[in-house]
Amino acid sequence: MIVFETKAALAKALFPYRERNMPTGFVPTMGALHSGHVSLVEQCRKENCVTVVSIFVNPTQFNDRNDFAGYPRTLEEDTEKLNNTGCDFLFVPSADEMYPEKDTRLFDFGALDKVMEGVFRPGHFQGVAQIVSRLLDVVQPQNAYFGEKDFQQLAIVRHLVRELHYPVTIVGCPIVREPDGLAMSSRNVRLTPAQRKSAPEIARTLFESKKKITGTPVDELKKWVIDRINSRSELKTEYFEIVDRNTLQPAGEYRENALQGCIAVHAGAVRLIDNIAY
Ligand code: PAF
Repeated sequence: MIVFETKAALAKALFPYRERNMPTGFVPTMGALHSGHVSLVEQCRKENCVTVVSIFVNPTQFNDRNDFAGYPRTLEEDTEKLNNTGCDFLFVPSADEMYPEKDTRLFDFGALDKVMEGVFRPGHFQGVAQIVSRLLDVVQPQNAYFGEKDFQQLAIVRHLVRELHYPVTIVGCPIVREPDGLAMSSRNVRLTPAQRKSAPEIARTLFESKKKITGTPVDELKKWVIDRINSRSELKTEYFEIVDRNTLQPAGEYRENALQGCIAVHAGAVRLIDNIAY
């Protein structure tokens, strides 16, 4: 695996692949890699001639300074994991490299960012779009891989590449879970033992809600999910929404294979998200 710190060096290394029409696959990350990331890299390797992973903790997508400061940074372990997974090129730019000057672009996501994460993390998706568009400009991949755990982010990125006419296929990859159901996240390492013990209640409740959705009115089910999770003293639900899978707008009633339940929960200082298809 070759490690690059500058856009120019990475673009130069990728040029011969582009010239020969050999597909480049790209996995953007913020590091602190876990098995979820590894599954993205593995899928990327299967479907492309060259696999590029970026690690960059993007300051512009954090609306909370403490969250940015406390975000786990484990470059040495990450590099080893990527080496073992067969990544070809690792891109680890500095903040100055990615933002030589302030990014003042404003993206329009229609109604997609007026709900859920967009409400509780103002500016977050503007920051995601800034960095994703800049990374896509450098790597110019045929395929880019994003986890479905960040369900709303995936919808926003699909919208972004359509709007900007980027010739890239956005591939959504399934959530990878711990054996007890907890969705894998770089933030899980920051949970205390008591929080870690309670956290799988989020996934368990979502799985249970799937069994109930056909026979329970949407509002009643939402209340049931929130109450059950909040009954754990370590957990506090920020939102739980049942939305149309494509538009992300709240659903009034059940429609088969059309809805997604999306949740954000605070476990002390750690914010966890998860979702389920109904
Ligand atoms: O999902 C993430 O890790 C980040 O939001 C991303 C897509 C790498 C952009 O910084």
